[in-house]
Parts: sequence; C-alpha cells; structure tokens
Amino acid sequence: MTYQDIYNKSITQPSEFWKAQAEQLAWYRKPSEILGTDDYDYPQWFKDGTLNVSYLCIDKHIEDGFGQQNAIIYDSPVTNTKTAISFNQLHEEVAKLAGGLETLGLQKGDTCVIYMPMIPQALYAMLACARLGVIHSVVFGGFAPHELAIRIDDCQPKAIITASNGIEIERIIPYKPFVDEAIALAEHKPEHVVVFDRRLGVDIPYKSYDIDYEELVSKSVAIEPVAVASNHPLYILYTSGTTGKPKGIIRDSGGYATALKFSMKHVYGVEEGDVYWAASDVGWVVGHSYIVYGPLLNRNTTVLFEGKPIKTPDASTFWRVISEHNVKVMFTAPTAIRAIKKEDPDGTYIKKYDLSGLKYQFLAGERCDVATLRWTEQQLNIPVIDHWWQTESGWPMLANMVGVELMEVKPGSASLPVCGYDIQILNEEGKETASSVEGYVAVKLPLPPGTLLNLWGNPERFKSGYLNKFPGYYFSGDGGYKDEDGYVFITGRVDDIINVAGHRLSTAEMEEIVASHKAVAECAVFGVHCDLKGQKPLGLVVLKSGEVQEENTISKEIIQEVRHEIGAVASFKDVFVVKRLPKTRSGKILRKLLRNISDDLEYNVPSTIDDVTIISEIESVYKKNQIGIHKNIINHE
Ligand code: COA
Ligand code: AMP
Repeated sequence: MTYQDIYNKSITQPSEFWKAQAEQLAWYRKPSEILGTDDYDYPQWFKDGTLNVSYLCIDKHIEDGFGQQNAIIYDSPVTNTKTAISFNQLHEEVAKLAGGLETLGLQKGDTCVIYMPMIPQALYAMLACARLGVIHSVVFGGFAPHELAIRIDDCQPKAIITASNGIEIERIIPYKPFVDEAIALAEHKPEHVVVFDRRLGVDIPYKSYDIDYEELVSKSVAIEPVAVASNHPLYILYTSGTTGKPKGIIRDSGGYATALKFSMKHVYGVEEGDVYWAASDVGWVVGHSYIVYGPLLNRNTTVLFEGKPIKTPDASTFWRVISEHNVKVMFTAPTAIRAIKKEDPDGTYIKKYDLSGLKYQFLAGERCDVATLRWTEQQLNIPVIDHWWQTESGWPMLANMVGVELMEVKPGSASLPVCGYDIQILNEEGKETASSVEGYVAVKLPLPPGTLLNLWGNPERFKSGYLNKFPGYYFSGDGGYKDEDGYVFITGRVDDIINVAGHRLSTAEMEEIVASHKAVAECAVFGVHCDLKGQKPLGLVVLKSGEVQEENTISKEIIQEVRHEIGAVASFKDVFVVKRLPKTRSGKILRKLLRNISDDLEYNVPSTIDDVTIISEIESVYKKNQIGIHKNIINHE
C-alpha cells in the first residue's frame, strides 16, 4: 500500500481504519463502538473496550513465548552500567511493585507522581501504576521543587515514587530532597513517598512518609493487571502553556495503545524484536511514548540511556550505544546532533563504529535546521527524518511514514501528515491558506486515537486553548505552511512557548518570576536564537526609578530565582537592563518585535511607537551582550 492510499483511508474511513488497528491489541473486551463523542462532541475512541496497557507491554509477550527477549537495555555511562532486562524480569519487577503499591492503598483511579532519573525503576514505576489502573504523572527531573509542588497540588497524588539521586554528567542531583521540599511547599500532602536508594554514597534525609522501594518490592506479591476502560487515563503529563500554570494533558489507555503500536511499525518502520532507541527522558512525552509504551507494546527492545550526547564521556557515546546494542531506529532532538557536530565536526567518532544496523534516524522536539539535517545525512548515510508532534498529540502528526513508504525528504519540512491527522493551515478567519502561505497549523476533528483526552481538572482551558479558536479543529499553537506537494513546514510557536534544547518552556511563567523581583518595574521574557539549543530565553528588565542596586547583582538574583522556581532546565542565563520597552498604545509589550530584532528577522516598527530611538537602545544592548545577529532590515512604517 502506498502512503497516499493508507493516509486517504485513515481520513475518509476513520472508524474502519482504526478498528483494524485496534484489532492488533489483546483487549480484555474488544470495543464495539469505535468512534464516539463526549459531552462536548469531542471524539472518544473505543469507549466500551477494556484492556490493561501494562499487560500488553509485558505479560502478553511472555504468553506469546518471548519472556527471554530483552525488554530494556539500560545503558548508563554516568554510572558505568550496562544491564539487559528481559520481559520475564520486567514482569517480576513490575508485578511485585504493583503489589507493593496496592498494599499502600493505591487503587484504580488514584494518581501517583513519579519523579525519577533515567533508571529502570522509573519504567517499573510507570508500568506498575498502569497495571493497577493508577494514573501516573511523571515530572521531569530538571524541574525544581516549586514546579513539582504545582503538579502535586494539581493532580493530588496518593503517593510519590522517587529515587535518592539523579546524575547530571558528574553532578549528583538531590531528587529525594527536592521531593521533600516540594511536599513542604504543596498544599496537598501525599500519604507515601516510595524512595529507590541508588546507593551513591549520599545521605538521604528521612521523613515519616518514606517507604523504601526495595523493601516494599521484596515484601510484596506479584499481582495481575486490572482491566480498565479504553478511556481510563493512563497518565497525566504536564506541559507548558501560555500562562504560569502548566497544563495536565490526559492520555487515555486504549486509543494510545492502538496509536503507538501503529506508529512503531508504520511511522518508525520497526518490527517486533528490533532494538529501538529514543534518546530523551521519561519526563517528556517522547519518553512516555517512545522509551516506554510504544516500543514495549510492539515487543521492541527499548534502550534506556542515562547520559548526554556529549561529555558522557564524549561525542562518541551515541554511536557506541547504537553499535553495541544494534539499534535499528534512533530518535533524538536536533540539539543533541548539534552538540555532537560541534565536538566532532568531521564525524571521526562516527567512523569508528559499525552502524550498519541503523536504518533510520528520526529527529523531533524542535525545528530542525537544514545544516543539522544535511550533516546527519552525510555522516550516517541513511534517511534522516524530521517529524513533528507535541505532548498533546502523544505521537507523530507529521512524518515521513517510512514503515509504509519512504517519501522524498525535503529539508526544513517535517514531511507529510501521518494517518489520522487531517492537517490544515488556516488563516485568522479559519479558512485554508493557499500553498506556501503561512498560517496556523490546525487538525480537523476528529483527532485520531492516542491524542489528548482533556486537561486534568480544567475542561474549560482545554476548550479555550485548543478547540474554540477554529470550531471543528484542534489548534496546535504552531505556525507553518504547506508546499504544493502537501509537505508541511513548521515555522514555530505563535504563542509564548519556547523550545530550548527540545524542552518546551513558558516564557510567561519566567516573566512572572522576573517581574516579582523587587527592583523590576517591568520586563519581557522571550525566546531568541541559540546556535546550540535552537532557542534560549532572554529577559529585558526596566528598573524601578531610584533603584540603587548594581545591574550585575540584580541580574544574578533574577537568574537564581528563575532557576530556583522553575529549575535548571529553564536555561535562563541572560537578563539585561534596558531603559524602556517598546509597547503598543494600549501598553502591550512588543515581544515579537524584540525577538525579531535579535534574530535578524525582518520587522516593521509599528506606527504606534512614536519614538523609534527605543529600537536603537535595544539594539545596542543586544550588541553589547552579543545577543543574536545584527543585520536587521528596518522598515519604518
Ligand atoms: N535532572 C536535573 N537537571 C537536569 C536534568 C535532569 N534530568 N536535565 C537537564 N538538567 C539541567 C542540566 O544539568 C543543566 O544544568 P546547568 O544549567 O546547571 O548546567 C540545565 O538543566 C540545562 O540542561 P540542558 O538544556 O540539557 O543543557 P546542557 O547544557 O546540560 O546540555 C545538551 C546541552 C545539548 C547536551 C543537552 O541539552 C541535550 O542533550 N539535548 C538534547 C535534549 C533532548 O534530547 N531533548 C529531547 C526532548 S524530546
Ligand atoms: P512538546 O510538547 O514538548 O513535545 O513540544 C511540542 C512543540 O515542539 C511543538 O508544538 C513545536 O512547536 C515544537 N516541535 C516539535 N517537533 C518539531 C519539529 N519537528 N519541527 C518544528 N517544531 C517542532
């Protein structure tokens, strides 16, 4: 079947198409209703089906005779560890941990926060929750206690599962103390904190709610998976929105399992038994879908990598992992490739390894610049596929579906719509734009299975954020255009969200923190171009009149506060004092203008700015601090 055939079928006959895909799963009760709607007319898939995702990821493969196959390869250069975990071993770990969690009172419908580094126990915890029908919410380790506290208050977990520490290259990160701090900050108090002690020789502070992970597992009996309805939430995953408060994306069980299994074969082109590696973190959606659930559902061996593309120990790590574990398909962010390219521009390390098993290199998480794509193609000599999706979608929306038909790779484009996604570029009035004309990237409803069900505890925000802008469509928050062949080019977010090293962050949230500094009268935080990380946040502040503190001191305090409140992952390292900020007559700060000046993009100075000298003031601050490139074309209106 060609790409066009299978794609057309998915759009014109969605129920038939997804019914056939759902049949690839071992449901407890097969769904009879394929595509229904909820009270808001929003699509619901496989409503009356029941299943258990943990069963499908583990037990089913053992029943089929693959218990000895490796389910996980844990490769941790930061601890010098390489371990293979078979499906039989995974079963033992997960079923017993689930038994332990049950003795703590966790049951179907409860929530459980997981705050863990990239160790196998993070996967056991997710799968144990899924086994019980407990809704997990994994929080990325780079987020600070304050961010964790916000999520604890929002999803009200009965328990938190954590580890003593994480390791960032050589630095020990205090995970358990962060959890304690978050619990102290949060209004909601979880009953238990299950702590996996990594025995890194660091003292772990003890609290009365602590339960030792290993002791819990050793005392527990393995339990059977609990059947849940197809739309029972498997997890809540928080992601940055346009306000300071993150959004809790709810993922269903049956639609997600169906979509992921489909994507492993049809998008990524892997067969059961192949080794698949997504170099991300379990705290992000890529980790949920393509470190944990996708590969395990499809009986692939998933690589769990605790390290960085460089410095653990050097830029050869990725190629070593691919070669040693015979990875067939790899997925990472363009930032990781840029980091490697910077250290090893000629690909000297690459040549040292046998990478003949690697068939496709997938990239996503941020825009992929043409130079990075070309360099990767030249070095690896295989198709390099940029693809586009989001936490909300849970799986790719645009991709070259290599498992169906390898289409032409067009640099700068994340390729063509994936089955089930009717992607359209709309103008402000909600009409499709002509080819090559930029607009809002939207998806005509119904969305396919596996995409977001709602926002946790906030259906109003779900509707206003995604559904109301263009009735009948899901609005992605990205801008882009389609060429005459239907290839989509994503040009970037149209809101206050930025992508730093493939990590999605809210500048509005940073701005709230910057604005609360006692010396700041007003401020703007926005994303500017960064050669390595794609984007980085930049803060411009106007000080209160009469402020006597040194600019340097103020900047340091602000940077420290953002790190303290959001976490190291914010990469907020640049904040500069300006005399004033450009605004509209109604007082709105022109952030886009500020960004365009730094990124050397063409911009118009709006007629609402009566004093254009403000622009040269900003430009001189950028120049002095080496922010952006400065060959702008200024069109004074
Ligand atoms: N726990 C604690 N801290 C973390 C963390 C974690 N899981 N992940 C990142 N951090 C910290 C880092 O140590 C760093 O701290 P620092 O400012 O004190 O140095 C900060 O958060 C920023 O991290 P990062 O953006 O990763 O930058 P880096 O300079 O440490 O590394 C790269 C640069 C390019 C090597 C790294 O960004 C990378 O591997 N990028 C690929 C990202 C990726 O795979 N994204 C996929 C998302 S789909
Ligand atoms: P996240 O929800 O963290 O996965 O971030 C999703 C956002 O990252 C998208 O809305 C895009 O803005 C951006 N993004 C992800 N993949 C790509 C890509 N291939 N090209 C351009 N932008 C991307």
